Amino acid sequence: SQPAPQTPTGRPTGGSAEAFSQGGSYLTNAQGVRLPDSDHSLKAGRRGPVLLQDHHLREKIMHFDHERIPERVVHARGAAAHGVFKSYGTAESVTKAAFLRKDVETPVFTRFSTVIGSRGSSDTVRDTRGFATKFYTSEGVYDLVGNNIAVFFIQDGIKFPDVVHAVKPHPDREIPQAQSAHDTFWDFLSLHTEAMHHTMWAMSDRGIPLSYRTMEGFGVHTWRLVNEQGETTLAKLHWKPKAGVHSLVWEEAQVTNGVDPDFHRRDLADAIEAGAYPQWELGIQTFPDTPDQTFEGIDLLDSTKIVPEELAPVQPVGLLTLNANPSNYFAETEQVAFHVGHLVPGIDVTDDPLLAGRLFSYLDTQLTRLGGPNFAQLPINRPHAPVNDMLRDGMHQTAVHRGGAPYKPNSLDAGCPFFAGSEEGGYVEVPAPVEAAEKVRQAPESFADHFTQPRLFWLSLSPVEREHLISAFTFELGKCYENAIKERTLRALAEVDPYLCGQVADGLGLPAPEATRELPSVRPSPALSQVGQKWPTK
Ligand code: HEM
Repeated sequence: SQPAPQTPTGRPTGGSAEAFSQGGSYLTNAQGVRLPDSDHSLKAGRRGPVLLQDHHLREKIMHFDHERIPERVVHARGAAAHGVFKSYGTAESVTKAAFLRKDVETPVFTRFSTVIGSRGSSDTVRDTRGFATKFYTSEGVYDLVGNNIAVFFIQDGIKFPDVVHAVKPHPDREIPQAQSAHDTFWDFLSLHTEAMHHTMWAMSDRGIPLSYRTMEGFGVHTWRLVNEQGETTLAKLHWKPKAGVHSLVWEEAQVTNGVDPDFHRRDLADAIEAGAYPQWELGIQTFPDTPDQTFEGIDLLDSTKIVPEELAPVQPVGLLTLNANPSNYFAETEQVAFHVGHLVPGIDVTDDPLLAGRLFSYLDTQLTRLGGPNFAQLPINRPHAPVNDMLRDGMHQTAVHRGGAPYKPNSLDAGCPFFAGSEEGGYVEVPAPVEAAEKVRQAPESFADHFTQPRLFWLSLSPVEREHLISAFTFELGKCYENAIKERTLRALAEVDPYLCGQVADGLGLPAPEATRELPSVRPSPALSQVGQKWPTK
């Protein structure tokens, strides 16, 4: 555990803001003035009119009027829990991150989410799930902001507004809430086939998890780890649930949607309440930090690609246990602000162009969502390490900063030393070389293959998983109004596999197109496959 965190002014940070909790033997207004009655407006006579001078009435209604804040632009619906991460120490040779040293225990807060639906939508829809964890480490906050699908829709952050416009409800009718049952989604996929790999995962059983407790999580991007000696290693991060990976079948998901739209959040909260604490192992796949940042021909900067586990096994580095429910949904689950740029010494970014978009986007959106620049001071976001920044003032400033010279170095404030050097343990970006021959707006050639890995995924599925995937494609694509979009999607599916394409085409009552090339033979990944699976015949 860590010492109670303090600001430089000695005021406590972190933990719950007890002073503002509900309680006490009498009611007050927001100024602490005792109220004899909060049930009746002040009126001229018992039957009115109501008087403008009733400050309590105005304060109470004004506050209520502003109780809602904007929901997240994506991942609006979520459920979260507190917990602890205990490190095995097995990553010490590749990273100097203090929270990954042997037996170090770090408090965490994890928020799971759907991506597309609004805050009041259902839990068991077919969608990607967010899996974001805030580690309150001794060196500051580290956020691992991942999904339950190992790859992403797009390869470049500049396409994120486009893909979200395509998966969100249609702008005219605001339907459907689900990710995939509409024309814009399939239109996007068929015109941006880089999204095929993610879509294969989303149409598989992974798109309807049984429970948050039985989902894997993936950091998706490749990260750059650096150890005490300054040596670097590229890595992908994985969460493996101790309870195993389990999904609903589609019929269950639909019934559950109606019977209990809160199924996943209830399951998480009930399990924790009952002491059945969910656990995940954090694991890393590691790759040499070569100048081209590829591994076995796979471009590690392309977030639509995995590295199969038989090529780079996932090595366990620590255990996450979620052991406490939030005490206030708004203060914790709603106000938590994750960011892929919240890094600690030992973990750095790579040049993945999708990651670059995210590094800009989260801070920007939270500035609006959380009402100004001071959301790092909200209790759930406060680091458990000491904070001594030079950030001042702004909307919703709650710190009372001391000192007369808010810049460094300065010679005026006592106890305000010059910057400590990197040798003191500061965060220093790895001086990785930048390939900058010329400015271009083009994807690298190595991002061009959109179909080999979707095929690998298809081949790794068991027969029953394949049938589920075919049904999902047929059902969701069948919701499309435009035949041209269905036909274009079938042409993309033909590049993945003829049986898959043929079955979906049959289901839609359309002819099955042929692939434009010889399909590559790819080995199924043992991590995804079942032993003895048979190739289904038509
Ligand atoms: C929110 C994951 C790509 C923009 C989230 C959340 C997760 C997530 C888990 C919810 C965080 C929470 O629980 O509060 C991912 C993953 C991505 C990805 C794994 C790809 C590997 C992107 C990209 C952008 C983006 C490319 C923009 C360029 C956002 C925004 C939010 C969000 C704006 C809402 C944040 C907030 O309001 O606090 N993402 N995301 N994401 N993501 Fe992403």
